[in-house]
Amino acid sequence: MLLRWYIILGVLAAFTIAADHTLFKTCEKVGVCQRLRNTTANELFKIENLKPTTAGNVTNTWQLSRGTDKFTLTIELLNNAKVRFQLKEEGSKRYELKDVLDENQPQPIKVKVEPSQDEKKTTITPDPSTKEQHSIVIYKEPLKVAFLYNEKELVVLDSTNLVMEYKNGKFDEKDVEIKDIGFNVIFSDALKLYGLHHHAYNLELPDTSDMEPFRLRNSDTANFEANSPMALYGSVPVIYGHSNSSTTGIFLHNAAEQWVDIRYTKDGSPSAHFMVDSGSFDLFVMLGPNIENVVQQFTDLTGKAQMPQLWTLGYHQCRWSYFTREEVLGVVKNMNEGGFPLDAIWLDIDYTDGKKYFTWSDKFTGTDGKGVETMLETLKGKNKKLVTIIDPHIKVDEKYPVYKEGKDGNYFVKEKDGKKDFVGECWPGNSSYVDFLNPAARTYYANHYSDREFHQGYPEVLAGIWNDMNEPSVFDPHHEWTMPFDNKHKSTNDGEAEIEHRDIHNIYGFLHTMSTHEGLMKRDNNATRPFILTRSHFAGSQRYAAMWTGDNTPDWDHLKNSYSECMLSNLVGLVFCGADIPGFFKTVPKPTDQFVYRAYQAGIWLPFFRGHASNDTESREPYSYGGKPRDLIRNAIKMRYRHIPTWYQLFYEHTQTGAPVIRPLFYEFPGEIEHNDHIMIGRGILARPVFDEDVKEVTVHLPGKDEKWYRIDGNSVQAYNGDQEVTINVEKGESPAFYRGGSIIVTRDRDVMSTEDGKRLPVTVYVNLNKDLKATGKLYNDDGVSFEYKNNKKLYVKLSFTEEHMLQVEPIGEQKHDGLEVVIEKIVVNDWNRTHVSTHHQADVGGNFLSHINIIHALRNNENKMIYKLRR
Ligand code: NOJ
Repeated sequence: MLLRWYIILGVLAAFTIAADHTLFKTCEKVGVCQRLRNTTANELFKIENLKPTTAGNVTNTWQLSRGTDKFTLTIELLNNAKVRFQLKEEGSKRYELKDVLDENQPQPIKVKVEPSQDEKKTTITPDPSTKEQHSIVIYKEPLKVAFLYNEKELVVLDSTNLVMEYKNGKFDEKDVEIKDIGFNVIFSDALKLYGLHHHAYNLELPDTSDMEPFRLRNSDTANFEANSPMALYGSVPVIYGHSNSSTTGIFLHNAAEQWVDIRYTKDGSPSAHFMVDSGSFDLFVMLGPNIENVVQQFTDLTGKAQMPQLWTLGYHQCRWSYFTREEVLGVVKNMNEGGFPLDAIWLDIDYTDGKKYFTWSDKFTGTDGKGVETMLETLKGKNKKLVTIIDPHIKVDEKYPVYKEGKDGNYFVKEKDGKKDFVGECWPGNSSYVDFLNPAARTYYANHYSDREFHQGYPEVLAGIWNDMNEPSVFDPHHEWTMPFDNKHKSTNDGEAEIEHRDIHNIYGFLHTMSTHEGLMKRDNNATRPFILTRSHFAGSQRYAAMWTGDNTPDWDHLKNSYSECMLSNLVGLVFCGADIPGFFKTVPKPTDQFVYRAYQAGIWLPFFRGHASNDTESREPYSYGGKPRDLIRNAIKMRYRHIPTWYQLFYEHTQTGAPVIRPLFYEFPGEIEHNDHIMIGRGILARPVFDEDVKEVTVHLPGKDEKWYRIDGNSVQAYNGDQEVTINVEKGESPAFYRGGSIIVTRDRDVMSTEDGKRLPVTVYVNLNKDLKATGKLYNDDGVSFEYKNNKKLYVKLSFTEEHMLQVEPIGEQKHDGLEVVIEKIVVNDWNRTHVSTHHQADVGGNFLSHINIIHALRNNENKMIYKLRR
């Protein structure tokens, strides 16, 4: 009975893949979209006086009018080529979003405001002391705001489609107060637009003239369709405009439902038309001028992910559900016996006592009540972690202490009247929903992660938490599977519940993970990096959690989409992204073995790597397959484990610069704009897995006129020139992957069964020579668990190979690397210029060959750098 909706969805999934959009509304059924699509504003905005009404060094405001309506425009130039633009109606009480921006953001800079002589426009330029190069021109009538970099106009917001409707008392036919915001942004110098994560779509946003607009409304879109603009679980209201010559971006800091139409005109610039249900008009413009800058600018605003614990980068095994401790330990045993590395096993909702979170079902406790403890102890002995699910709905049950405390403390979301607790149906049946907007409610929920009955004294083993159903999901088709938008939240514990759910809907999941993060930090005395996986997410969620793409179907289109979904999420800060492997739902017929190994081969190159499947599926753990598929799955997982040192280093770099861990080709090669099935891991690895059934070969696009590429997935390394398409035979199950010439990639080529097993084992360094026979790379190491890396307890070095066959090791920045030993046991030089492309080299120190290089010793003895001569 409780599984009613999932069963309905499951049945739809089994028989008709295209059924799902019928469970959600189209644009013409949703007020704001219906009102604002295909209409242009009939009255245009104008500036009353080009001189700011309030002017400061940094913040300036202007009085605007549209007919008899009055508005205030506030513009701030921010550091690092960003701008903040805010428009408000006089007298309206629009909700202003909190919590999303990173601490100390935004940072306005000093400006000069100069109206033109002819009184038609005014310019805002940065004070020369700031060394910034972005500026603004505001045109008086009709209002138009142009955003420039280096005096070149890159982004324009004009008056067409500019709508602000909040007239204190204007209601639609359903009695909902209208708070529409509509606006149009033109990306003057762009060829392509990217963004509006999260959708299962190609990277490039299409022209939506003949389709639905892209919808951003966090939804439990179980069984979602591939290649569709329908809303999914997360929202990041960001669009990047990209061309060979520049990249810019916009970010709408607003968590209400929104729809976006995209237009490409033949000779004009692409544009985006936003139609927003409520909240405030608070727009950030990021002026690049290149993709790397824009990503950095956006992660300036919304923050970076923290360093993940090392184990989280390994393979995770999940299923809905493992029901007993015997089953859990059985999975671990089978993985081990099958030779499949594994770092974590996951428990879905059935481990709880009746879906009451923070409790355990007696199937785990055993007769002596010590079952969970024994299970955790056994997992610990095998270097495995446990991750358990904790959802945001709380079963209505007076005997359930978590409910009782939430009810008495007034910590639940309220109905429209702001008084009565809202009750909706989810897994436990009738449930209340924690009001995570209220900091006191966040703390109440957070504190339960410290319940001893929950972690059983093994917090270091029960090391991760999975926050699911947090859009939030409510089994109610009348409100599109979430709570009514007129439900009420509190922003402080003492205040009234008066903030409408519609204003904060898209950050409900974000706030849920904020609370879980608080809970894990407290539980672990602020000493351990929390690992949280969330389904619902928003801009900035990377500060608290990893995310995955939700309930996908094991078919080729979904598999392909998982690449663009995660590459895009990486461009908007959400670096720790993955997709269920091989796919969540049951399909009829079930996925072929071939599909399954292809899904593993693709999945290893996404940052988060987890096998998961629904409760009505056949067993889909790696050991469930035999023969060649089994071997190929094992090889794929091992390929992942070999590259853990590189993944770890890339995550560290993200924490410093905001750079994506995985990236589309155009991030590295701006002209390469249409390769949704190619992925780059950092700047040095390119993978092009197989995304079609029974293909004999795939075409790989190797970019860069001056580049060299080394194929690494075969038995021997082969070198290729860049700027060509190569056809690669994949009949034996190959999954093409390449190292880029000029890169040095650090791997751990030892067989290990977990990242913990590998932690102290030596590494191999692959030196991949570019056309000038040079290469550079980086190596990073820390304790894998704590925040000590922030106090410089880390090893971080640059490796460079010069034409004289020297390997140079030099520290990057200050570091205390004692105990963070890394030993290089093998150096492989890939050299396109030789008959034997790949050769094993050793360090030659005064005529003696070193079999191992201990980087720490080298650095300790030699403050600045070590240079080794290399010999074959
Ligand atoms: C929905 C999630 O997307 C899925 O991964 C999970 O297995 C089910 N909820 C049950 O918790």
